[in-house]
Amino acid sequence: MPSTIAVLDFGSQLTQVIARRIRECQVYSKIYHYSTPAAKLRADGVVGIILSGGPQSVYAKQAPHPDPEIFKLGVPMLGICYGVQLMGYFLDGVVEHSKAREYGHGVLTVKKAGRLFAGLPKKIRVWNSHGDKLTKLPPGFRAIGTTDNSPFAAIEDLQRSFYGIQFHPEVFHTERGVDMIRNFLLGVCGVKQEWTTRDFIAQAVEKIRDQVGSGRVLLGLSGGVDSSVAAALLHKAIGKQLTCVFVDNGLLRKGERAAVEKLYGDHFQIDLRVVDASKLFLRRLKGVTEPEQKRKIIGRTFVEVFEQSLKSIKGRAQFLGQGTLYPDVIESVSIGGNPASLIKTHHNVGGLPERMKLKLVEPLRELFKDEVRRVGEALGLPREVVWRQPFPGPGLGVRVMGDITAEKLEILRNADYVLQEEMLASGYYYKVWQSFCVFLPVRTVGVFGDERTYDYVIAMRIVESTDAMTADWAKLPHELLQKISGRITNEVRGVGRVVYDVSSKPPATIEWE
Ligand code: XMP
Repeated sequence: MPSTIAVLDFGSQLTQVIARRIRECQVYSKIYHYSTPAAKLRADGVVGIILSGGPQSVYAKQAPHPDPEIFKLGVPMLGICYGVQLMGYFLDGVVEHSKAREYGHGVLTVKKAGRLFAGLPKKIRVWNSHGDKLTKLPPGFRAIGTTDNSPFAAIEDLQRSFYGIQFHPEVFHTERGVDMIRNFLLGVCGVKQEWTTRDFIAQAVEKIRDQVGSGRVLLGLSGGVDSSVAAALLHKAIGKQLTCVFVDNGLLRKGERAAVEKLYGDHFQIDLRVVDASKLFLRRLKGVTEPEQKRKIIGRTFVEVFEQSLKSIKGRAQFLGQGTLYPDVIESVSIGGNPASLIKTHHNVGGLPERMKLKLVEPLRELFKDEVRRVGEALGLPREVVWRQPFPGPGLGVRVMGDITAEKLEILRNADYVLQEEMLASGYYYKVWQSFCVFLPVRTVGVFGDERTYDYVIAMRIVESTDAMTADWAKLPHELLQKISGRITNEVRGVGRVVYDVSSKPPATIEWE
């Protein structure tokens, strides 16, 4: 087992981001509840402690406080934001309560590089978000960095190897923040960089086996990255105790179901059940044009079909596997903003685990998307799965405008297939965020050979984005657009015209619905 760094969680939204940065440094860490007894940390062989930030004031009635004994463990410590205030509070400094929060960019002036700022510039842009402030150093400490607002923005106690920083090194907005964390881990705690994706997988496999025992796990496969990686990981851990269910809702892309059957059924030899519910979905969607209503019908029908299929599987399952990631927090986390606006709601089977008395197995819960992709690669999933573009849960249901029919879906599928082929062949598939076709129920006049035609319109939507919150249309080479459009109008019956969507988000969304 590699050396463990303990991250004590005082309720910051960023605790998982700290853990992620530690993983980036290839060091093993574990998140602990803030009240974890020092004896437990000692028993776990913890070689360094990071105190996370937190939304409270150290003086608040409900303020989370650690076991005071942790300061006597004799292991290095790094307090971040609320963490440094705790150091001030518990180690006889003075922390002043202020009503106004210091929030946003500041410039740190490094007074003493020492071990924490080794190799870093003298001036560093840092990100602040705190209310209380350390105003008198605890005995044994000295200031090693200042900002305009604080003479004690970074402090150190060399004897005890205690460090405190008022700003957030874990966020993207702090320049060289990860270098500070690495300096703490390697330079101060003296750990080795020996925690890799393979180690993560080995540990996850062990945890899954511990949790599941000889029980049975069911997992809904969507074909997307998260559920695919979860399936591969669960399969590695428990083999035949895993059953995957794939619902064909009739709103899939061309060849999608066959690809899932080939990869999971044939290649991985997973016990895969494919439920063809396409007729039911299309029947319920008949004549429905309103986007929200379509979504509701698709969502409700999915849960119903999924639940039904689980009941029909012989042998009672006790667990439901899910590819939940650390709530899709976006890369550039903004602190103090409305968390709900940062976190994409997960597309899951609401209420199902409770109704069916299933316990959740979520082996990817602590990971971020790019980490999940690395796990997928290490598990041998093919590139087109690991680097697949996002695809909405309601599938082509949000890409056929107006009412949905089998004929329109077929046209859309064929057009979209051409688009994907050309995007893959040109290599642009992996360079853009999403590329897809939308079916427009509008007929326009054209000529094909000697004949006058009256056919539908296909819109191409190809966007660049980093988090789907904002997006811009991709400026692809005209020759590529020309080739796709030419192939669609020539090869796909029923399409007479192709248009390119040149709207950004906002104000437009990525999907048309
Ligand atoms: P919009 O259209 O809101 O889409 O700009 C943002 C991103 O979310 C995807 N999307 C969905 N993903 N279930 C999903 O899993 C859904 O219902 C859903 N709707 C939109 C969309 O493809 C884009 O990447």
